[in-house]
Amino acid sequence: MKVVILDDAHAVADYGADLFREQLRKSPASVFGLATGSTPLLLYKELIKSNRKGELSFAEVTSFNLDEYMGLAPDHPQSYRHFMNREFFEHVDIDPANTHVPPGDADNPLTACGEYEDKIRAAGGIDIQLLGIGRNGHIGFNEPTSCLVSRTRVKTLTVETIEDNARFFSEDEFQPQLSITMGIGTIMEARLVVLLATGESKAAAIKAMVEGPVSAWCPASALQMHPSTVVIVDEAAASKLTNPDFFKHIEAQNQALLARL
Ligand code: PGA
Repeated sequence: MKVVILDDAHAVADYGADLFREQLRKSPASVFGLATGSTPLLLYKELIKSNRKGELSFAEVTSFNLDEYMGLAPDHPQSYRHFMNREFFEHVDIDPANTHVPPGDADNPLTACGEYEDKIRAAGGIDIQLLGIGRNGHIGFNEPTSCLVSRTRVKTLTVETIEDNARFFSEDEFQPQLSITMGIGTIMEARLVVLLATGESKAAAIKAMVEGPVSAWCPASALQMHPSTVVIVDEAAASKLTNPDFFKHIEAQNQALLARL
């Protein structure tokens, strides 16, 4: 796990966006794994800017989102499909037909989960997977106690996650308690994983993920076993790490090496 500690959320977004730009340069027909939440918003803004300037194109990209609320139709303003359209897809040249979000309104969610896995496989697997992290260490909606080799499935949300996300729902609005989420095993098959975290509220989860035991209690800790994960954090999210200076030293060494190539 490579840990990159930067000054602030803008630097985190820039660094993450560069990894997506690099992936697109290598392969314009890349398969993206995408995430919702507040954290990736700045990264999406960066990619939108590059697209508008004509520096990169998403015309050949296929995307798969991590998760969706169960019980919300795609056009529901709180659905993750709606979020992705509003925050990213509508602003770039991606073909909407090539964007995939788990169907929260599926008649048969169990069949839909298997079909989602089939579609990822048929697309050739995910080249680069964007992740945020929950305060409780979740990735996607894989809450603590999730099976570390799980596949796309229906998951019950924890009270903590429901409370964290309540800010997006008005008081009398239906807030789903279930989700469809890629499993940890699904995420682990992505060729490159890019996890972003900013702010003090994520510091404990980042410490558990990077330093803690690999444990279902912190689902993100499974990424310790992933061969190519980049964790990009600001100083606040890194503030509970035992030895942040070591990660900064490694990154300086990496940059120096790259400059010589
Ligand atoms: P956030 O959510 O980016 O809104 O903090 C992250 C997550 O829950 O995965």
